[in-house]
Amino acid sequence: MAIRPTSPSAPVDWSPASWQQREALQQPRYDDPAELATATAQLASLPPLVTSWEVLALKQALAEAQDGHSFLLQGGDCAESFTDCTSPIISNRLKVLLQMSLVMVHGLKKPVLRVGRFAGQYAKPRSADTETRDGVTLPSFRGDVVNAPAFTAAARRADPQRLIQAHAHSALTMNFVRALIDGGFADLHHPEYWDLAWVEHSPLAAEYRQMVASIGDSLRFMETLAGPIASFSRVDFFTSHEALLLHYEQALTRQVPRHPGWFNLSTHFPWIGMRTAALDGAHVEYFRGIRNPIAVKVGPSVTPEQLLPLMDALNPDDEPGRLTLVHRMGNAAIAERLPPLLDAVKREGRRVLWVADPMHGNTESTSNGYKTRRFDNIRGELDQAFDIHAAAGTRLGGVHLELTGENVTECMGGARDLSESDLSRAYKSTVDPRLNYEQSLELAMLIVRKSVSRG
Ligand code: PEP
Ligand code: CO
Repeated sequence: MAIRPTSPSAPVDWSPASWQQREALQQPRYDDPAELATATAQLASLPPLVTSWEVLALKQALAEAQDGHSFLLQGGDCAESFTDCTSPIISNRLKVLLQMSLVMVHGLKKPVLRVGRFAGQYAKPRSADTETRDGVTLPSFRGDVVNAPAFTAAARRADPQRLIQAHAHSALTMNFVRALIDGGFADLHHPEYWDLAWVEHSPLAAEYRQMVASIGDSLRFMETLAGPIASFSRVDFFTSHEALLLHYEQALTRQVPRHPGWFNLSTHFPWIGMRTAALDGAHVEYFRGIRNPIAVKVGPSVTPEQLLPLMDALNPDDEPGRLTLVHRMGNAAIAERLPPLLDAVKREGRRVLWVADPMHGNTESTSNGYKTRRFDNIRGELDQAFDIHAAAGTRLGGVHLELTGENVTECMGGARDLSESDLSRAYKSTVDPRLNYEQSLELAMLIVRKSVSRG
């Protein structure tokens, strides 16, 4: 299927820096403009992390997901950290995503498009600019690309050198992921490569093992008939992050010899977070000029009157694969807030990939001070999302999840029914609570059940 490149060049009144004329929310205050300028100039001279060819291939793949030919699985940490840029953490995260996609390919009988929330997910929006502890007020922690989490003035200073470090850590992550995938780590003939050491006694392990065995049988059968099938040995993996810190994104926005226009080459698939999606804001200004496929988080306060002009600004030519809308309403709000948006977009005949993020509308605090999410609410929102799309005559084409391959206890419930008192056992996130392995696999099984029951 060929995509018509409807708007290959950037709009005439746009440049990678034109966002600076708009109000930019959620940016740190750098205390030395010269130091910032030196760091961004250095960043702008460093090689990109992805290529325009890959970016356009993903756009094509997302166009296919829009048409229902594949399903998007997007997941990873809420925030990466420089200290978590290690071999086991990166490979465990990849293992969970591969296992989930195996469950989904097996059940959905269609390709799964894998996009990691990694290799650049270093900036976080915060509800307040400052944090006060025992009478001391300091800037909030905004992610490792900006400052450090420790509660000291030095750690919380916005340090431009971190822009360079974030690029370097993204490159290290990307290099390792690419090497694993190219080296056969994702080979469907060897799903045992993705086993996680500590899941042997998981209540879901048996069901998963059965699927692996059944896929192995089908594979052997097909290859007996047709010979080795190379595409089973390799999968594609794309990257994504919230393009929040616009100095970083601008420095990695490039032109390339063979494709017109501007590309954000820090990631394949940047998204606009819920708090920075104002039509007249800096983030929408920046995003409208790049050629990447892009996503926008859509929260419960968004109305059709706000959403449609945003879609016009970001995808004026209704280009296939260009725009993904990620709804994150909350289990209690989705039934009321989502249908009017689906109806309006459908009525206007706009092309979009609808994706459910059942995480961010379901965050709460426990009495003992943990930020958590109840698995029942996450599952409930996803379950409802499928039904609401079916009733509206639209298609839920993917999920966006926060998960980790580590054995954490951050979300309550799930196969082991984690309770409030379990959270302290292995709560590692400095930001949002993530699904652990079992909870992730359970959601993959739910997605299959819901999709299959709809035919
Ligand atoms: C996130 O994805 O981590 C996030 C902050 O999401 P949202 O913008 O939807 O709140
Ligand atoms: Co988050």
